[in-house]
Amino acid sequence: MHPHRRPRRNRKSPALRDMVEETRLSVKDMIFPMFLIEGQNKSEEVKSMPGIYRYSQDLLLKEIEVCMKLGIRTFCIFPSISEDKKDSMATESWNPNSLYNTTLAKIKTLFPESCVMTDVAMDPYSSDGHDGIVRDGRIINDDTLEVLGKMALAQARTGIDIIGPSDMMDGRVGYIRQILDEEGYSDVSIMAYTAKYASAFYGPFRDALDSAPKFGDKKTYQMDPANKREALIEADLDYSEGADFMMVKPALAYLDVISLLKDNYELPITAYNVSGEYAMIKAAAEKGWLDGEKAMLETLLSIKRSGANAILTYFAKEFALLQK
Ligand code: PBG
Repeated sequence: MHPHRRPRRNRKSPALRDMVEETRLSVKDMIFPMFLIEGQNKSEEVKSMPGIYRYSQDLLLKEIEVCMKLGIRTFCIFPSISEDKKDSMATESWNPNSLYNTTLAKIKTLFPESCVMTDVAMDPYSSDGHDGIVRDGRIINDDTLEVLGKMALAQARTGIDIIGPSDMMDGRVGYIRQILDEEGYSDVSIMAYTAKYASAFYGPFRDALDSAPKFGDKKTYQMDPANKREALIEADLDYSEGADFMMVKPALAYLDVISLLKDNYELPITAYNVSGEYAMIKAAAEKGWLDGEKAMLETLLSIKRSGANAILTYFAKEFALLQK
């Protein structure tokens, strides 16, 4: 008995394996999330994210320059806000002179060829630590839209390329799109966090920004991990409200959702390989339980293979360094 068809023949050498490779990673696919803090000449490693730092503006700009030289062009910046600037309406989020907005402007002035994505959500600025306005323990959707609109407009005025609403309020993509268009920013893109799940994998990110909810959880606005068809409802809305990209977040536990959106929509699909996914690999690698580099590459490949066009990942720089 000799098998007639032998899949192993296509695996017999590196040259052949490379030739039949269906998915390839490139630094061009990657968006690098970075954390901004107040102060000068400060870089603090996030304890639960070895290799990832919170940078003051001066060092963030230097780090972006280093990354650009490695071929990373797209950056997503998140601000860490001191407690004294937080309030229930996230007022600091639409302050044109905030550290965040002035930093965005500087990045675009110094590195005009970079592509800068922002975060739109109240949680880093909110004394409640929630993504929406809180009243009597509830998240008030439609009043929150006004805050998100002001925040997005202030960001657009800095010259950034992509607005990233990560808040999961209903109607926010359309609301932000309309304000941007009315104010003359029809070229600014929106990357909607379309299927964002109420996930345990955001823990290290909340450490990095001190943005954990002060009470309760985010289950009334972020999606239930049990649900997949509901992602199609969110996607329909974001599509019709004018999103330019649709994101699935987290990535690893939701590869089926990435694939579902890819099969059903023509818009580019992005995936957020979140902080907890990064931390898991780093922790296991530090213990010597996994080969961290191989696990990173396999993880990123799986996300792309499932249908993501681009990946927000804390591994972007490490990946870029490997290519050199
Ligand atoms: C909040 C926001 C979160 C992340 C990005 N934007 C956390 C949350 O929803 O609580 C998480 C990203 C990560 O874990 O890497 N608007």
